[in-house]
Amino acid sequence: MFTKQSLLAFVGALALAAATTITVENPTQAEIDADRATTLPYSPVSNVTGLAFNRFVDIWLENTDFEAAASDESLAKLAKEGILLTNYWALSHPSQPNYCASAGADTFGMDSDDFLQVPSNVSTIADLFDTKHIAWDGAKDYVRKHNPLIQFNSITDDAVRPRQIKNFTTFYEDLKHHSLPQHMFITPNMTNDAHDTNITFAGDWTDRFLSPLLKDEYFTKDSLVLLTFDENDTKPYPNRLFTFLVGGAIPKHLKGTTDDTFYTHHSIIASLSANWGLPSLGRWDCGANLLKIVAEKTGYVNWEVDTSNVYLNATYPGPLSTRGNYSPSWPIPATNGRCSAGHGIAKIVEDTYKGLQPTYNYTSPVPYDAASGNNVGIKYHRTLKNGKTESRITG
Ligand SMILES: *[C@@H]1O[C@H](CO)[C@@H](O)[C@H](O)[C@H]1NC(C)=O
Ligand SMILES: *[C@@H]1O[C@H](CO)[C@@H](O)[C@H](O)[C@H]1NC(C)=O
Ligand SMILES: *[C@@H]1O[C@H](CO)[C@@H](O)[C@H](O)[C@H]1NC(C)=O
Ligand SMILES: *[C@@H]1O[C@H](CO)[C@@H](O)[C@H](O)[C@H]1NC(C)=O
Ligand SMILES: *[C@@H]1O[C@H](CO)[C@@H](O)[C@H](O)[C@H]1NC(C)=O
Ligand SMILES: *[C@@H]1O[C@H](CO)[C@@H](O)[C@H](O)[C@H]1NC(C)=O
Ligand SMILES: *[C@@H]1O[C@H](CO)[C@@H](O)[C@H](O)[C@H]1NC(C)=O
Ligand SMILES: *[C@@H]1O[C@H](CO)[C@@H](O)[C@H](O)[C@H]1NC(C)=O
Repeated sequence: MFTKQSLLAFVGALALAAATTITVENPTQAEIDADRATTLPYSPVSNVTGLAFNRFVDIWLENTDFEAAASDESLAKLAKEGILLTNYWALSHPSQPNYCASAGADTFGMDSDDFLQVPSNVSTIADLFDTKHIAWDGAKDYVRKHNPLIQFNSITDDAVRPRQIKNFTTFYEDLKHHSLPQHMFITPNMTNDAHDTNITFAGDWTDRFLSPLLKDEYFTKDSLVLLTFDENDTKPYPNRLFTFLVGGAIPKHLKGTTDDTFYTHHSIIASLSANWGLPSLGRWDCGANLLKIVAEKTGYVNWEVDTSNVYLNATYPGPLSTRGNYSPSWPIPATNGRCSAGHGIAKIVEDTYKGLQPTYNYTSPVPYDAASGNNVGIKYHRTLKNGKTESRITG
C-alpha cells in the first residue's frame, strides 16, 4: 500500500510518541495517488457454500441518526425489499474505531481518526477467511480512517493482501468478469457516504448503486447485503443505527419484515464465522449475537439485551487512545472457550496468545471493561431450547 518507507516513518513516529499524546499525520494526497496508480489489483475467486448465504457485501455510510436514515425515501424503499434491523448498534465515536472493529473485533481504545496502525500479532477477519480460502476484498475509494483492513499491519506487511483492497472501477470489472469475491467491504467516498453531504444524497447514491446490482443475477444470487452506518450523529445519544439486509439470500417470507434482535458491529464477524464454519478471533466477536437468519441455521440462541442503559458512544482505555484514557497494553484475546459462531478460536490466535489471561470477558454480547467501568451494569438473558434461563450482567 503506502510505500514501506512512509509506513515505517509513521510506525516509527508512533513508537517514539509512545504514551499519551500521539499526533501522527495522514499520508499526503500525492502519496495516496501514487499508491493508487501502482497497485495491481488482485481478484481471487472462491465459492465456499455458507449456511445462510454464499456472498456477503457490507456497505457502510456515515454519521447518521436512526430516525434521519429511516425517513429517507430511498433507504426506506430499499429496506422494504429485505429485513430492517431495528436494534443494531455502533460501538463508539468517532468513525475510525467502528471501522477498525469491523475487521479486528476490538476498538483497542481508539478514540480519534488519527493515522494509527495495529501490530501484526493482531489477527483480522482476513485470517479467518484464509482458513477456508474464502476470497475477500476491501474498499479503496476512500479516506484511510474509513478503510478497516488498512489499519492492520497483518494486512499492509503482506505482499498480496493489499492488492485485494480495490476501488469502484475494479469492482465493476470484477462484476463484469464474474470474479467478485465472497466477502466485500464497501466504503463509498465522503461525498457519497453522507460524510460531506447529507442522508438524501447518500440514500440516492445507495439506491443508484444497489438497485441495479440486486437485479443482477450473478451479483445477487445467494448474496446477503448489509447496509449500515459507522456511527450515530448525535453523540450523547444511544448509538443505534439504521441497518438493513437485502439480497437474494433473504427468504421470500422475510422480505419487508423487521428483526429486533440486539446486534453490534461485532455481530458481523460472528455471523460470517457461523455461516462459513470459520473460527473466531477470540475478541468481541466471540460473544456477539448472530444475525437471526444464521442463528436459525446453527441453533445458537441469541441474548436479549436490556438496552435501557446502553449508549455504546465511547470506548474503554487502550493502546490506540490518543485523546486521553490511554492504556499501554495490547488486549489479549481469548484462546479457548465457546464462542457464538461455534467453531472455536483461530489457530493463529491460539498460537500467538496461548497461556495468557484474556484482557476482557469476551463472552458478553455487549463489549465492556470492568476496570474502567465502561458499559458495566447492562443486563442480558436468554432462554435455551431446554427451557433453562440464563441471566447475566456486565461488570
Ligand atoms: C482504480 O484502481 C486501478 C487499479 O489500481 C487504477 O488503474 C485506477 O486508476 C483506479 N481508479 C481510480 C478512480 O482511482
Ligand atoms: C456457488 O455454488 C453454488 C452451489 O453450491 C451455486 O448455486 C452458485 O451459483 C455458485 N456461485 C458462483 C458465483 O459460482
Ligand atoms: C503484540 O505486539 C505488541 C506491539 O508490538 C506487543 O506490545 C505485544 O506484547 C505483543 N503481544 C504478544 C502476545 O506477543
Ligand atoms: C466521489 O465519487 C463521485 C462519483 O461517484 C465523484 O463525483 C465525487 O467527486 C467523489 N468525491 C470525492 C470526495 O472523491
Ligand atoms: C443535500 O446535499 C446535496 C448535495 O450537497 C444538496 O444539493 C442538497 O441541497 C442537500 N439537502 C439538504 C436537505 O440539505
Ligand atoms: C454518552 O452518552 C451519555 C448519556 O447520554 C453521556 O452522558 C456521555 O457524555 C456520552 N459520551 C460521549 C463521549 O458522547
Ligand atoms: C441517535 O441520535 C438521535 C438524535 O438525533 C436519537 O433520536 C436516536 O435515538 C439516537 N440513537 C438511536 C437509539 O437511534
Ligand atoms: C465473565 O462473565 C460471566 C457471565 O457474567 C461470569 O460468569 C464470569 O465470571 C466472567 N469472567 C470473568 C473472568 O470475569
